[in-house]
Amino acid sequence: MSQFWKPGSEKPTSRLVEDEDGGVLYVRHPTSSSSHSGFGHASLEKQRKRLPVYEYRTAILYLVENHATTVIVGETGSGKTTQIPQYLQEAGWASDGRVIACTQPRRLAVQVVASRVAEEMGVKLGEEVGYTIRFEDMSKPGVTMIKFLTDGVLLREMMDDPLLTKYSVIMVDEAHERSLSTDMLMGLLKKIQNRRPELRLVISSATIEAKSISNFFSYSRRKRHDPESQDVVPSKQPAILSVEGRGYEVKVYFLQEPTSNYLHEAVSTVLSIDEKEPMGDILVFLTGQDDIEAAVQLLNEECQNLGKRSSGLIILPLYAGLSRADQDMIFSPTPRGKRKVVISTNIAETSLTLEGVVYVVDSGFSKQRYYNPISDIENLVVAPISKASARQRAGRAGRVCPGKCYRLYTEEYFNKEMVAHGIPEMQRSNLVSCVMQLKALGIDNILGFDWLASPPPEAMIRALEVLYSLGILDDDAKLTVPLGFQVAEIPLDPMVGTMILSAHSLGCLEEIIIIAAVLSVQSIWASGRGAQKELDDAKLRFAVAEGDHVTFLNIYQGFIRSGKSAQWCYKNFINYNSMKKVIDVREQLIRLVKRLGLVIQSCEKDTEVMRRAITSGFFAHACRLETYGQEGVYKTIRGSQEVYIHPSSVLFRVNPKWVIYHEIVSTEKNYMRNVISIDPSWLTEIAPHFYQVQKPNPVIH
Ligand code: CDP
Ligand code: MG
Repeated sequence: MSQFWKPGSEKPTSRLVEDEDGGVLYVRHPTSSSSHSGFGHASLEKQRKRLPVYEYRTAILYLVENHATTVIVGETGSGKTTQIPQYLQEAGWASDGRVIACTQPRRLAVQVVASRVAEEMGVKLGEEVGYTIRFEDMSKPGVTMIKFLTDGVLLREMMDDPLLTKYSVIMVDEAHERSLSTDMLMGLLKKIQNRRPELRLVISSATIEAKSISNFFSYSRRKRHDPESQDVVPSKQPAILSVEGRGYEVKVYFLQEPTSNYLHEAVSTVLSIDEKEPMGDILVFLTGQDDIEAAVQLLNEECQNLGKRSSGLIILPLYAGLSRADQDMIFSPTPRGKRKVVISTNIAETSLTLEGVVYVVDSGFSKQRYYNPISDIENLVVAPISKASARQRAGRAGRVCPGKCYRLYTEEYFNKEMVAHGIPEMQRSNLVSCVMQLKALGIDNILGFDWLASPPPEAMIRALEVLYSLGILDDDAKLTVPLGFQVAEIPLDPMVGTMILSAHSLGCLEEIIIIAAVLSVQSIWASGRGAQKELDDAKLRFAVAEGDHVTFLNIYQGFIRSGKSAQWCYKNFINYNSMKKVIDVREQLIRLVKRLGLVIQSCEKDTEVMRRAITSGFFAHACRLETYGQEGVYKTIRGSQEVYIHPSSVLFRVNPKWVIYHEIVSTEKNYMRNVISIDPSWLTEIAPHFYQVQKPNPVIH
């Protein structure tokens, strides 16, 4: 029980207002005269007290005490993520070995906020304040009181502890992002609340769509209060609290004419800000590692050409998978006389706050997942953002003083073309993992699940079909024993999980684990160094005709032979940080498969066996070469979609007749990333039912 609010203690009435429809409790913001001035070098404690959320501390604790669910809306940077878990801890919600959880959709955000909160509390990261992301656990059972974790990891924890009993409060942060895992989590937490009336949920969001989330949690049925229990059963009516931010005015500029190259436009906008505008950091929103690295390089070149190399621009990329040192550079204060330019994915839109940003350059795009159940292709595409996102991005410029936002699109486009809000990820994703996880959690009636936003039925049917053909679900759509349950235990895509289990049967688990580890990191090539020719030459040193997966194995072995040398990586255009990650993930996977009772055997360089194991997981991604030539045109067997081998693949321009890809990335075309060549007879051998579902005998001639 929280020690801060005792039942019957005085509530902050002046701040509470009853809502007329439905008795939802709102808290209006207190009128405050304190003005926000930049943080300067105030102590951390002073900084904490200056955050907008601090004035609501009492109200937040009151609401959490008295309501099963509290929805908190507040501008980015107001202190929701870093402060609320601390308030809860201070009020005793982490006493008696209980834990306060705070989920984030993004891994990098988990790491960054956890280390910030540890610093504010003056504790070592991984002790009282810890974090867990996939393949990285920095928490200590019995010691950790505040735990940051990805929403995906919390879903995983439900497999061992379905009621999440160790948590007293679960804060689902960044709910407005509506990531697939966040939506799943909210549906499941609503179920848990029925069984655990004492569990408190805090749902926090940067936008005001709070009402729909609050309605969602309103109708959960609750067990009658047990009179023996000491716990106070909170009201099941969710409370909504709105934290008023104190953002400064941001002047917004649009392009007069649309641009066909947002990357160049972004670079020239940065240069012109640097030339004409007073000091203040610049935050540029691009879409992903590739265009961010390209922009960093271009900007460096331009500065050099202009003879401004030492003029004071500190150019930093910000995307998932950055090393700790890179992160530190981004979050440390800008030295006097310098101007920081952070070129970021939309992680800086609401997940992370950068102090000192005065200028925002918004490309109008972000990378988004899109799944087409008809073609059965899930793409990561560069797609236009919503108006809501554009407003969030602009808001980042008004943190410390009035700012400016330069939108690299026209005002007409903003008004007429941009959608108001994005579509929840649930409605545009491949649901194979999601369905398998729900099944593993014992949810049999997936279609009848209480979704915050219902996924399209076609995507659901596709997912069931794929899981069935992988042998994970049986005829009654239940997980198979042992395969289905084993695959569900592996915290990777079911296709990768199936590949690992097949590798066990085929005796090549040793190799496939390495391949799975490499596939789980973004890229092991040091593509950001700009020297394409040298990179291509380096690739040739490792490349094998069987394809990328087998090439990865060569690289891994070379790295181990070099004594895990950073210098070796540099010489061979390999990303050293990625390789360290691979070593880590491999070790964890080995522990996991041992726990599943699997025996690790090596196939001693028999690449056919390896490729068969990969095919067992990825047969649904088979493609056939249709047109020869410099750039071979492939068609997917399943949906007859035109696809191409990605230029980063060792099979680019090699164009084997039959291939299997790991994933599709789309820029101007659908590119297959990470490809192996296969023998088509394996397809009908391994997945006869899959390739006969649509057309009898469709593929092999
Ligand atoms: O979650 P929300 O966007 O409401 O804010 P937050 O992430 O809790 O951040 C609150 C404040 O903490 C920010 O405005 C930053 O001033 C500061 N902060 C920081 O300086 N460094 C970090 N790594 C994280 C937060
Ligand atoms: Mg936050």
